[in-house]
Amino acid sequence: MSKDSISIGYNAKELKLPLLRGTLGTPTVDIGKLNKKLGIFTYDPGFVSTASCKSDITFIDGEKGVLLYRGYPIEQLAKQSTFLEVSYLLMNGELPDEKRLSIFTNDLSHHTILHESLSGFFSGFHYDAHPMAMMVGVVGSLSAFYHSQLDMNDPEHRRISAMRLLAKIPTIAAACYRHSVGLPQVYPRLDLGYCENFLNMMFSRPGQTYTEQNDYIDPVTVEALNLLFILHADHEQNASTSTVRLAGSTGANPYACIAAGISALWGPAHGGANEAVLKMLVEIGTVDNIPKYLAKAKDKNDPFRLMGFGHRVYKNFDPRATITRDTCHAVLERFPSDDPLFELALALEEHALKDDYFIEKKLYPNIDFYSGIIYRALKIPENMFTVMFVIARTAGWVSHWLEMMDEPTHRISRPRQLYTGYDQRDYPTKNA
Ligand code: ACO
Repeated sequence: MSKDSISIGYNAKELKLPLLRGTLGTPTVDIGKLNKKLGIFTYDPGFVSTASCKSDITFIDGEKGVLLYRGYPIEQLAKQSTFLEVSYLLMNGELPDEKRLSIFTNDLSHHTILHESLSGFFSGFHYDAHPMAMMVGVVGSLSAFYHSQLDMNDPEHRRISAMRLLAKIPTIAAACYRHSVGLPQVYPRLDLGYCENFLNMMFSRPGQTYTEQNDYIDPVTVEALNLLFILHADHEQNASTSTVRLAGSTGANPYACIAAGISALWGPAHGGANEAVLKMLVEIGTVDNIPKYLAKAKDKNDPFRLMGFGHRVYKNFDPRATITRDTCHAVLERFPSDDPLFELALALEEHALKDDYFIEKKLYPNIDFYSGIIYRALKIPENMFTVMFVIARTAGWVSHWLEMMDEPTHRISRPRQLYTGYDQRDYPTKNA
């Protein structure tokens, strides 16, 4: 990492701040000594210009629409790899060879089963509980099962925690769905691949054989899931990953940290957008209504936003959205339906991309504009869309948690504030 510096002066004192340059990306000023030397803080709500950590995992160039996992372009990974290879890459830094992949897959499949007592937790939820609410609760509860023997200073203990999370989250996700429709939980099957096993746990009906269930373990479905999982696997310091890092910086239990990440992901400005896009398309209803809704999105006094549009980092296009748009066509070709929402989404995209407001503000479709339509075609229920995102992003969350915990001197994350409340004042004297 090459270094030079920039100078800053305050109160007749001058300080040279090191300018850090990573392998790729924007030069970054190290302001760590600013308060100690000059007695000032920096103010950056929403972390628009602030790097919160160093990381070797993922790189994004928002202007050029580049996304790299450990240096590999997302387009190449999407075309050539599986979600498990990508998970191994994110966690370990290199692609696995055949032997390493086989050990990783085997290891993972042996962690897929849930402790029987944990399975019992689902009965405490009302049938209409949102699956994301159950995910937050049940994944957090894993910490109650794996806490007393966990030595956070032992890298092997940390690795096993990460593997357990990656393996058990699809089992928990499917159990959330089964609970909401009143079906019994399905045990994971070690002989099935990662996506196939998930589909089996979601949709298998009591008494059916695997062959009879081929309608939902279809190769196009498996391929589409694998692709969406790869595309969602990591995205550097997004809100949920930063939440995992922030919680993890205190030394908290890893399962509790991931539950915190799931909470952050749920919001419609982040992972909840895929469910929100579908709701929005249903609300818009027909192509004729598009101008009315675009006007609402542009009106500062109207809280309506075009869901699935805009991104903090991508300002020309989201490379993941380009791939999901193509996949949408393939999936809808395989499972033709009279679902008008895809046509409506295409028309909405076309209108918005020609609109001055969206052009000026550089608002383009993000990955979640199309992922909901794909999930809908695959018969994944709408309230499970963000849960699907959780399954994929777990690979990124655990990789960032491992990276942070491996640093010899990581510090607790503790932002400063610009206080705007009352000056000090006296408590009113009480009448005797
Ligand atoms: N519809 C209408 N206007 C928008 C939209 C939108 N979807 N997104 C941004 N804008 C406008 C804002 O009102 C703002 O206008 P202003 O400059 O006049 O105040 C300007 O564009 C910049 O937007 P910000 O909110 O400041 O951008 P920020 O980087 O903070 O937010 C975000 C990014 C949250 C993604 C935002 O674009 C949004 O809410 N999009 C819709 C939700 C969505 O799709 N989220 C998924 C993100 S991808 C993911 O997490 C997987």
